[in-house]
Amino acid sequence: MKQALFSNEEYEEALGQLDQLMQDAEQLTDVDNKVLLYNILQYFDSIHREPLARIYNALAAYPKLKEQIDQDPTTSKMLSLYDLVSDEPVAEPVNEHQNGQEVAFIPESQVGLLYPPKKKDWLELGNYEALENKKLYPKNYERVNFLVSRIGSDVYAIQNQCDGSFLPIDQGKLEDHLLICPWHGCEYDIRTGESTDKAKKLEIYPVEIEADGLLKVEIAYD
Ligand code: FES
Repeated sequence: MKQALFSNEEYEEALGQLDQLMQDAEQLTDVDNKVLLYNILQYFDSIHREPLARIYNALAAYPKLKEQIDQDPTTSKMLSLYDLVSDEPVAEPVNEHQNGQEVAFIPESQVGLLYPPKKKDWLELGNYEALENKKLYPKNYERVNFLVSRIGSDVYAIQNQCDGSFLPIDQGKLEDHLLICPWHGCEYDIRTGESTDKAKKLEIYPVEIEADGLLKVEIAYD
């Protein structure tokens, strides 16, 4: 058996290409092809997720092997994509001594403020009354996939990608204010982006409806 098909860098590159393909697929206008593609992806996802979860659970009996797999960037990424582990390590405070006193600090690489601020644009999306009640409308702007949905006289805009996955949610459904992911049933409050178990969160985007009904959504992007 070959030890590796990809280097870590090539694996990251392949993930980036897959992400781009998913965004391209989002732009398909042929609804039948889009639904067919989602169905194929869903089956691929399911036939990988179940055995992967069983393998990962079985690893509990082999802590050294489990640690090795948790630390490998490719296997840990795959496990996080399938919601089996988080790929965001919790920062361990590092203790240093300064003037004889112990000082704790978070590694610089994990301080979010060091990232440049996102750009923001207000998008005009036409009169909100043209939206069917509780229908999910996928949108894309500057590589940001989001969806808008109207509930009565309110409109919400939320990330169109399940937390921890690259899979879109716009083929799911709305029940009251709960957005239900079509892949494995995660439920998010469309008003806050939070999942019902509070373990996941989707980005939400500010919405404004002008006096004449013009719907505007503010999208933040890199
Ligand atoms: S992709 Fe698994 S619940 Fe959404």
